[in-house]
This record gives sequence, structure tokens and C-alpha cells, in this order.
Amino acid sequence: MDLLRIHAKVARGVVGREIEIKSILTAMNAGKHILLEGPPGTSKSTLLRKISHEAEIPFYLVEGNIDLTPAKLVGHFNPSQVMEDSYKPEYFEKGPLTRAMEEGGIFYIEEFNRMPADVSNVLISPMEEREISIPRYGTVKAVSPFTVIAAQNPYDDVGTVRISRAFMDRICLIKMNYQNEAEEREIVRLRTGMDSSEIVDLSVKMVRKTREHPDIKLGASIRGAIDVVDLFVGMQKLDDQPDSHFLTTAFMAISNKVWLNEMASKTADEIIEEVYAGLRNQYPDLLRPQKNATAKSSLDNGVQEKESEEEQRVKKKIVT
Ligand SMILES: Nc1ncnc2c1ncn2[C@@H]1O[C@H](COP(=O)(O)OP(=O)(O)OP(=O)(O)O)[C@@H](O)[C@H]1O
Ligand SMILES: [Mg+2]
Repeated sequence: MDLLRIHAKVARGVVGREIEIKSILTAMNAGKHILLEGPPGTSKSTLLRKISHEAEIPFYLVEGNIDLTPAKLVGHFNPSQVMEDSYKPEYFEKGPLTRAMEEGGIFYIEEFNRMPADVSNVLISPMEEREISIPRYGTVKAVSPFTVIAAQNPYDDVGTVRISRAFMDRICLIKMNYQNEAEEREIVRLRTGMDSSEIVDLSVKMVRKTREHPDIKLGASIRGAIDVVDLFVGMQKLDDQPDSHFLTTAFMAISNKVWLNEMASKTADEIIEEVYAGLRNQYPDLLRPQKNATAKSSLDNGVQEKESEEEQRVKKKIVT
């Protein structure tokens, strides 16, 4: 299967990420396995689901956590059938790894570094030899383009295990950083269906500011901005108080998505209030109640709503 030919189809509906799409497809096409390293919300699942859909290959997702066991990946014999009869291959209930190997699918493990080391070691043989020996069931050979794709958050150091050298040596690394501001705006527009550029602009700015705040270790992802827009639009339908609604929805959408530094002197809500105070003056039209829309607001400092050239460029690239 030539995976490179689906490149344009995968890119359709995805904002930016050209290099990353090319990198993943090239690695898969060459029979390599992949570690996607990036903070939450940086398109990892989106790209893989799109690739699986466009290439029509199965997609198996497993979330790495300490309760994972080798049997949960590989599969197990049904105990009651074995007790009644004996070990027969048809009594083997295949796990997602075995299925992905037999069907030539993507085996995707989120939060890979939360998985116990003995479980990640189970992957070595399928990756290296493209086969796995299962006692009493037999040897399973991987059908092309079987690919192991692990994902991890580079800032995640709570309850995580260090990825083994053996695993690192057998994968290609693709880093997924946050996208630029114009691309993030486009993602929020796409996901919320919101045309008004101001609410999208302010929400994206809010989450981006959390990523550079000194009291925050891991800032909010693009999901924060998507949620702010959706909630704000909903709350505005109840009554017209944009200024306070924006702050309320920002608390709801962003507070739980930031990860504070151990030494942080402020709470997440205090930081959100501070960030909002620094931005709100730039959005007088958005934050002025509609019934007073004609009145000159004290917020108004004449900020232009005009789209930047960068934004227009990004828009042009996207074919939805
Ligand atoms: N480049 C993009 N184009 C279009 N939508 C995107 C893009 N990146 C992210 N999104 C949207 O942002 C949200 C989060 O993206 P996604 O689930 O792919 O992130 P992730 O990297 O898998 O995050 P996590 O590490 O938390 O699992 C989704 O709603 C997705 O549709
Ligand atoms: Mg994901």
C-alpha cells in the first residue's frame, strides 16, 4: 500500500501540519514505528484518525496507564471455555495489538509513558520482528502497514515511567508543538463554526497567554479556546452580558486545563482573571452589550478587527 498517495486527502480539513502529515505517512510507508511527542490538543489523534480513515486501515487506541497488562494488549483465553474444553485457538479473545497486527492497522497508545515497563516491552517483538508468539495460540505475523504509534506529553512527569532505551531505539520521533496563532484561530473557527473573528481571537489569545505565564507549567490547549467560544455563545443567548460571561466561561473552560507550577503563588482562576484583564481592552465591540452597541464604550481603544495577512494565508490553504 502506498500511503504517500493519501497525503492530500489527509491534509484536507486539517489546519496546517503539512510536515507532520508527511512525516507520519513517510514513516508508516517505510514500515517504521513512531513516537509522537507533544502537549495535549496538538492534533495527534486528529491526524491518526484521518490517516486511518483515508487509508481505510483499522485504528486501535489504547490509553497507557498503570493498570494496563500484557494480556490487555495481546488478548487472553476465555477461562470458562478453556475449563469446559481445552485451549483452542478459537477460544482466544484477541486484544487490540493482536488485531492491529493481523489486520495491518495502526496500534495507537496514548500517554505511553504512563504504561508499566513490562507492558511496553511486549511491543518490542511486534515492532522489531513484525511477529509475536502467543503461548497455545501460535505466532501472529504483522500484515503491512501495521504500525505502532505511541504518544506522550513531554511535560508529563507525574506517575510516568521513563521510556526504555530498547523502545526508543526502535521508533522515529515526531514532535508536535503548538500551532501558530493564525492556525489556532482557524482550528477554533472550524470546530465551533463561529465566524465572528473577535471572540475567536480573544479566546485563542487567552489560552496562548496561559502557556507563557510564569506560574503555569502546562498551559491550556486549543480545546480551552474551543470550549470558551462554545460556552460564551451559549451564555450570551441567556442574557446580554458579554464582559462577565466571557470571564465566567473562561473559568469553566480554562481553569481545569492548566497545570500550575508547584511554587505558584496564584490560583488558576486568579491567573485567568489577570490574563483577561490584560486583553479585554482590545475587544470593546465584543464585550459591549448589544443594546448599548452604538454608545462609545470605555473599553474602546480603536483596535482593528481586520484579519492579518497571516490569517488570510492560512484560510486560503484550508479546503474543508
Ligand atoms: N491541525 C488541526 N486541524 C483541525 N483541528 C484540529 C487540529 N489540531 C487540533 N484540532 C482540534 O483540536 C482538538 C484537539 O486535537 P487532538 O484531539 O487531535 O489533540 P491530541 O494531540 O490528540 O491531544 P491529547 O494529547 O490530549 O490526546 C480536536 O477537537 C481537534 O479536532
Ligand atoms: Mg489524543
